[in-house]
Amino acid sequence: MSDLTEIWVVAIGSGAVVGLLGLLAGWVLRHRSLRWQLTVVGVVTTLTVLLGVQIISRRMLISDHDLHVVLIVTSAAAVVSLVVALVLSTALVRWSRSLRDDVRRVGEGGTIVAERRGPAEFQELSAELASAHQRLAEAREREQRLEESRRELVSWVSHDLRTPLAGIRVMAEALEDEIATDPPRYHRQIRGEVDRMVQMVDDLFELSRIHAGQLILDPQPIVVGDLVSEAIAAADPIARAGRVTLGGEVPHGLQVAADPGGLSRVLANLIVNGIRHTPADGTVHVAARSVEGGVELAVTDGCGGIPDEARDRVFDVGYRATSARTPDSPLQDAHTARAGLGLAIVKGIVEAHHGEVAVENVGPTASPALGCRFRVLLPG
Ligand SMILES: Nc1ncnc2c1ncn2[C@@H]1O[C@H](COP(=O)(O)OP(=O)(O)OP(=O)(O)O)[C@@H](O)[C@H]1O
Ligand SMILES: [Mg+2]
Repeated sequence: MSDLTEIWVVAIGSGAVVGLLGLLAGWVLRHRSLRWQLTVVGVVTTLTVLLGVQIISRRMLISDHDLHVVLIVTSAAAVVSLVVALVLSTALVRWSRSLRDDVRRVGEGGTIVAERRGPAEFQELSAELASAHQRLAEAREREQRLEESRRELVSWVSHDLRTPLAGIRVMAEALEDEIATDPPRYHRQIRGEVDRMVQMVDDLFELSRIHAGQLILDPQPIVVGDLVSEAIAAADPIARAGRVTLGGEVPHGLQVAADPGGLSRVLANLIVNGIRHTPADGTVHVAARSVEGGVELAVTDGCGGIPDEARDRVFDVGYRATSARTPDSPLQDAHTARAGLGLAIVKGIVEAHHGEVAVENVGPTASPALGCRFRVLLPG
């Protein structure tokens, strides 16, 4: 065996023995701190060099003095590598502890900033943590807002039912005692109040079916022009009462597959909202067109724009931009006060069709905007 081959065999053999012992030590220490693992790596490297040099030096019969020199040099290298391993492992442990602290804070309040700390993997983890924290905070905020809307809804609905019920009771008593001065007017008013309460209870029922996933759809081909004409004709009396011009434009022959009852309701809710929020002499326009991926229905009004913070929430159950029960348009008096269910129903029906609904402000300038446009995209 040549000298060189012998050196290879000895170096690999001694390295393998130390390496195996190192792996064993690593396995024993696998549940301990990262610092131990890195120290094992440093020790294995050092011992491999030391052992190899020792064996080869003896075989090569070099002088004691030379052997000492070699040992001093390799020992110095060993100490340096151990110190470096310790310093690096301490830093790694520190970075991982600070990550652990961040993980503990995920989901709690405050912010987590993605920091440039430690190796690339730690930085990626830190960025992921920060974005998970952010997503969680947004989800929690949304959940809180929904909860708040639900609470408000319950109190409004009870208010909206209690007030007309009290009125009906007073009128019924007056009729019973025959002290009503104008009985036909009392009858009309009772009828009006009852209609409004029935509408509210219907909306609540519809919404609970949507949320329970029990909305039964019967999709069939619908001629969009016919549907829009019917919706406009039905809302016309309300538009006239508010002196709002109501119009529409639909390409001839445009069809969409949808549940006729559901889609009529979507259109009716959007059109009535548009009319209610458009001042006298304003316009509400309904348009439909074929777009990539389906059919788009758009209801544009002259509401003067919806503020950004309200635009995110208008589809929430029970949300009303004006929470005061004072009238905000000539059409909204105590008898037409709303519960904030219409757009939640619109969203529920549209999503049950796998479609999307969104609102945007329109006009030459975004602020102040002229009006807003509700767009419904139904897959074709
Ligand atoms: N076209 C619109 N222009 C401006 N604001 C609107 C428009 N449509 C809805 N909004 C705002 O969004 C809120 C929620 O509308 P939504 O239709 O869900 O409830 P509502 O009209 O108040 O009551 P409901 O429809 O149950 O009778 C409204 O109270 C209003 O503040
Ligand atoms: Mg409405």
